[in-house]
Amino acid sequence: MRRHSTLVDVLLVLALFSCSPWTVCSSLHCKETNMEEIRPHSVSITEFGAVGDGITLNTKAFQNAIFYLNSFADKGGAKLFVPAGRWLTGSFDLISHLTLWLDKDAVILGSTNFDDWPVVDPLPSYGRGRELPGGRHKSLVYGRNLTDVIITGNNGTIDGQGSIWWSSFRNKTLDYTRPHLVELMNSTGVFISNLTFLNSPFWNIHPVYCSQVTVQKVTILAPLDSPNTDGINPDSSDRVCIEDCYISTGDDLIAIKSGWDEYGISFGRPSTNITIHTLVGKTRQSAGITIGSEMSGGVSEVYAENIHFFDSYTAIRIKTSPGRGGYVRNVFISNVTLVNVDIAIRFTGSYGDHPDDSFDTNALPVIEKITIKDVMGEKISRAGLLEGIEGDNFSNICLSNINLNVSSSFPWNCTYVRGYSELVSPQTCEPLKETIFPQHYADCYYSNHLQSSRDRNRGAWLLSW
Ligand SMILES: *[C@@H]1O[C@H](CO)[C@@H](O)[C@H](O)[C@H]1NC(C)=O
Ligand SMILES: *[C@@H]1O[C@H](CO)[C@@H](O)[C@H](O)[C@H]1NC(C)=O
Ligand SMILES: *[C@@H]1O[C@H](CO)[C@@H](O)[C@H](O)[C@H]1NC(C)=O
Ligand SMILES: *[C@@H]1O[C@H](CO)[C@@H](O)[C@H](O)[C@H]1NC(C)=O
Ligand SMILES: *[C@@H]1O[C@H](CO)[C@@H](O)[C@H](O)[C@H]1NC(C)=O
Ligand SMILES: *[C@@H]1O[C@H](CO)[C@@H](O)[C@H](O)[C@H]1NC(C)=O
Ligand SMILES: *[C@@H]1O[C@H](CO)[C@@H](O)[C@H](O)[C@H]1NC(C)=O
Ligand SMILES: *[C@@H]1O[C@H](CO)[C@@H](O)[C@H](O)[C@H]1NC(C)=O
Ligand SMILES: *[C@@H]1O[C@H](CO)[C@@H](O)[C@H](O)[C@H]1NC(C)=O
Ligand SMILES: *[C@@H]1O[C@H](CO)[C@@H](O)[C@H](O)[C@H]1NC(C)=O
Repeated sequence: MRRHSTLVDVLLVLALFSCSPWTVCSSLHCKETNMEEIRPHSVSITEFGAVGDGITLNTKAFQNAIFYLNSFADKGGAKLFVPAGRWLTGSFDLISHLTLWLDKDAVILGSTNFDDWPVVDPLPSYGRGRELPGGRHKSLVYGRNLTDVIITGNNGTIDGQGSIWWSSFRNKTLDYTRPHLVELMNSTGVFISNLTFLNSPFWNIHPVYCSQVTVQKVTILAPLDSPNTDGINPDSSDRVCIEDCYISTGDDLIAIKSGWDEYGISFGRPSTNITIHTLVGKTRQSAGITIGSEMSGGVSEVYAENIHFFDSYTAIRIKTSPGRGGYVRNVFISNVTLVNVDIAIRFTGSYGDHPDDSFDTNALPVIEKITIKDVMGEKISRAGLLEGIEGDNFSNICLSNINLNVSSSFPWNCTYVRGYSELVSPQTCEPLKETIFPQHYADCYYSNHLQSSRDRNRGAWLLSW
């Protein structure tokens, strides 16, 4: 590789991007919340008549316990303790300043009776249910307009028993959109950690119109062929941090969204400042990290690092369409290891999938400043299928230090994209061939909290360019 760097360039790099004593380097790690007994009051679900036999329906017990705990909201909040047992329930609502604590071997089981999951209004940024017009079933664990909510424990389980929903979806007998396992709406200060999520009817964890959300040390599992069992979907939310998670489901492991076509455009709430740190997982039907396809409120400042996907269809994906409007910009993904993945990087500009016929075909999404760096892969079929939109190129796509062992003889296929690359093998497609360093260096996006220990090392940073 020919290098044109002058001493001045090198010094510029050092000044801007090294973590020296006179610059501050924050980390991608999520902020720790002190989980140790922060709630002065605690009750057990058994005090409200719940029976953990997997048969008795405990919806009323959950509702009554949480109603009672509301009186402690202004006294430091309270903890609802769920001991070992199988606690069958329908949907219930959380409150502010509550900790829902699932002890070891505690399993909250979703009822298999659809009536136990009431129908609520569609989200304004979607205009309708995601799968069917009209309302949608409320999530098993639901919260709205809340602050300071913690869902945690000793790796207890929330099991949606979703198979009845999946088969009803497949045989088209549902009247409304399927429910999520956990949805927090319009809430601030949400902390979900140290739990296992199983067999969600639909998406697993859905923060929507939220701020300051942390999801840490969770395991999310659903069969690889289960329909739309996305792992974690930050939606029109900001300051979301996802760390140390293992996810294996039937759809996207993490999908960052912000509303759907004309409804998302008019609602206008972006997803921004989304951090993903240390994620392992697999998906046979979809992608590990996806942005879209619903991105009409805009998605920006997405940072992901220390990612490992295996036995998967796609690793990193951006999906959009004419009609979506919005934007995806300032995305920085680094340190990705792939094993046995069909497509490493995929952009789709013609995803389609509209809520109705009223979308504006002239509402073109702006996709720009996407940096993907330090990717290693073996047993990869295609390196990149990068398809932008005619007349609406995806621009400033920057690929650096990518090394993939690819079986296809057409490893890259790029249409309507423009960008730069450096140290990419197999050799990248024509529209990305110009080198980043030094002329196009400012056209690429870099995380402003250059986190990884490797980037903290000046020498290694320069070497990687
Ligand atoms: C969001 O929550 C805040 C505070 O609880 C409330 O004032 C506001 O009206 C809510 N907005 C929506 C759209 O629910
Ligand atoms: C949340 O706030 C919105 C807007 O103020 C209100 O319409 C709705 O009833 C509130 N919901 C709850 C559950 O507090
Ligand atoms: C998380 O769960 C594990 C396994 O049950 C337990 O050992 C650990 O103490 C839990 N961590 C926290 C912070 O509660
Ligand atoms: C939590 O449980 C899941 C399976 O139920 C397991 O795979 C995972 O390793 C456990 N996590 C911890 C921290 O013990
Ligand atoms: C559809 O699937 C559900 C769930 O398995 C089942 O209860 C229902 O009888 C099926 N209906 C038809 C028409 O196949
Ligand atoms: C981004 O989110 C993190 C939490 O994930 C927070 O610590 C940080 O202050 C946020 N940055 C901005 C600019 O809002
Ligand atoms: C890259 O990520 C892996 C986990 O996937 C981690 O073990 C490794 O330390 C990371 N490398 C750097 C340089 O941060
Ligand atoms: C790449 O794959 C080929 C066979 O497809 C294999 O011979 C070679 O050892 C692999 N290289 C690496 C670095 O994994
Ligand atoms: C490349 O992609 C375009 C559409 O995006 C498709 O028409 C074409 O067949 C692809 N070429 C190869 C060699 O896969
Ligand atoms: C769009 O990108 C293609 C390469 O993919 C390039 O040939 C074309 O000139 C670009 N169009 C505009 C308007 O930048």
